[in-house]
Amino acid sequence: MSYQAPRGTQDIYGEDVLNWRSVEEKIYKLCNLYGYEEIRTPIFEDTKVFKRENDSSDMVNKEMYTFTMGRDSFTLRPEGTAGVIRSFVQNKFYGSLEMPAKLFYMGPMFRHERPQKGRFRQFHQFGIENIGIKNPLADAEVIALGYNLLKQVGIKQLSVLINTLGDEESRNKYKDDLRKHFEKGIDELCPDCKRRLEQNPLRILDCKVDFDKEVVKSAPLIDDSLNKESKDYFDKVLKALESLNIPYVIENRLVRGLDYYTDTVFEVVSTHPESGSQSTVFGGGRYDNLVSYFKGPELSGVGFAVGLERLLLFAQLEGIKLHKENELDVYVISLGDVKDKPLKIGQICRDAGYSCEVNMVERSIKSQFKSVDRRNSKVVIIIGEDEVNNNVVNIKDIKTQNQVTVNDVDIIKQLEEFIGRR
Ligand code: HAM
Repeated sequence: MSYQAPRGTQDIYGEDVLNWRSVEEKIYKLCNLYGYEEIRTPIFEDTKVFKRENDSSDMVNKEMYTFTMGRDSFTLRPEGTAGVIRSFVQNKFYGSLEMPAKLFYMGPMFRHERPQKGRFRQFHQFGIENIGIKNPLADAEVIALGYNLLKQVGIKQLSVLINTLGDEESRNKYKDDLRKHFEKGIDELCPDCKRRLEQNPLRILDCKVDFDKEVVKSAPLIDDSLNKESKDYFDKVLKALESLNIPYVIENRLVRGLDYYTDTVFEVVSTHPESGSQSTVFGGGRYDNLVSYFKGPELSGVGFAVGLERLLLFAQLEGIKLHKENELDVYVISLGDVKDKPLKIGQICRDAGYSCEVNMVERSIKSQFKSVDRRNSKVVIIIGEDEVNNNVVNIKDIKTQNQVTVNDVDIIKQLEEFIGRR
């Protein structure tokens, strides 16, 4: 029997890890530019954090990894927002941080979905939440941060889709209109959508089974249900995006797969022809009721999450090189009985900030030089028995082939000359 990683999960190693790190570094820098602070919440939470009353989303009802320990029910987080808002309320950030609180997170999420290209059961999200104010400028700035991340990564083939679900009054009117419409075509709907009709008819627009049916395609649009406040709010978001030169497409059937959204919703999709059916790189929106649901004050928030696997996949499709070659500064070659001198020299190099690899295998000088090539090292330090007895080393600059013998105490001076300071 061989051991395999669970379906829908993957090991990330080698060059891929370097690509991940390159994206993660860009994320940290960008969050710093926009004033977002990192928050790390638990990977599992009390199930109630995710399974909120009347939630009709597939994510909550079908895809959660839930387990019980004694009398307690826990769930591996399927997304980041709920845990962040739970923490925001529990730690009373609204009393201590200046509003809006601007928080970001990065880490694994878990959904029991059917694995396919760009869809995993353990995947990683980078997300931001801007909590505490309701202002269309905040919606636009949140979208801008995500959009700029994709631009910094170099992704060009993308489209920003945006819609509004309006305020509560507008949404209730829209839900009524949808109910009336779908009741007429109820026989055409899948069993899940029949249930959704009562609970939340917006979900029918998002159904993976029914989305192509005539009854769904002919459903009324939100535009006719929006009151003046909701329309004005949305217009201001769009104007703010224009002022930032962010191109967008109004997608008036976009409702998003989670239940907590109010007003603005958006998704950014890859338009690369090979992006496949899972083409959404990031999605998000505003939520007016989540903070109060967790028994905090009446505060609105807005945020998004990027799927990092998808971001990396779309970067690869566009042929983007993300990471620099992993160059080594120093490789220490040893010949004969040199005792622990190579180890000590390696430490001296590292203490001065030079990356260093020390040969620890008894083998020919030719074979050790092959390792120098493979590791792309800039400098080689060669130590034989004579060098041990005389407290010296041979140092060779690989590029110029210039080789000198120096006292042990002068090694760092020589490295500075060959490859500069660290
Ligand atoms: P979401 O649309 O469910 O939103 O997920 C955001 C992103 O996570 C998706 O656009 C996709 O890139 C990635 N993603 C989701 N499921 C998978 C999967 N099974 N495999 C690979 N990638 C996946 C949220 O999670 C919200 N919490 C976003 C948000 C933050 N809204 C407000 N604040």
